[in-house]
Amino acid sequence: MKGVILAGGLGTRLHPLTKVTNKHLLPVYDKPMIYYPIQILINAGIDDILIVTGGNNAGDFLRLLGNGKEFGLKHINYTYQQGEGGIAEALGLAEFFASGEGICVVLGDNIIEGNIRRAAEAFQKQKQGAKILLKEVPDPHRFGVAELNGERIVRIEEKPKQPKSKYAVIGIYFYDPTVFDFIKTLKPSDRGELEITDVNNRYIGKGSMTYDILEGWWTDAGTFESLHRANQLVAQTGANKL
Ligand code: DAU
Repeated sequence: MKGVILAGGLGTRLHPLTKVTNKHLLPVYDKPMIYYPIQILINAGIDDILIVTGGNNAGDFLRLLGNGKEFGLKHINYTYQQGEGGIAEALGLAEFFASGEGICVVLGDNIIEGNIRRAAEAFQKQKQGAKILLKEVPDPHRFGVAELNGERIVRIEEKPKQPKSKYAVIGIYFYDPTVFDFIKTLKPSDRGELEITDVNNRYIGKGSMTYDILEGWWTDAGTFESLHRANQLVAQTGANKL
């Protein structure tokens, strides 16, 4: 399985911090934010990695990470997203890299306490379809929210005003290669983006979506509040534990 990290977007919710740099290069405690999703993939045994970035500071990723020697990698792949057309648009740029293999996609501002090894192994056995990870949160309206019926996932709503559960869809997704066909049929949402939630709902509609509940804490880091929390969580307990 290959790994894709989405680190494009303009990070406008963090202005002025992101006026002269990319959100994913900002510090989270003792490391740049992008280090955490890279480690998530490596800890899951995935070492063929593509980073999708964008904006005016894309070159800084290369200066920071090079070929990933610090992580024990021999090579990192990079590609560039023009503008911020959404998470699914950024993922569409990975089609050439994926070349027909299954992929694990990690949003560049997602940080976890533990690891996703079990979910990655389960997805390998699943062979087709998709798998997402859920986490119970106090503020589900900020995220994609899963509507569950027993063991079954019925639908995902993106940032609902009245969430149907407390289970947020975290930014770590497993997809088979049909994801790129789904992306090509998407229409921009009201906020003008190709939404990853629309992709996930296609898989649910086809009955080929599974989910796991993530163990340990999870946070995004794309707002002042969540960036602050991410710093505190990493400082207190550390991230990416095996
Ligand atoms: O963090 C999990 C949540 O991430 C999910 O629960 C939501 O369903 C999903 O839509 C997403 O919500 P956000 O509104 O928080 O996503 P955001 O726009 O902050 O983008 C998250 C990451 O995706 C960002 O750090 C970089 C990447 N991205 C985003 C956009 C809009 C790109 O690479 N390109 C883009 O155009």
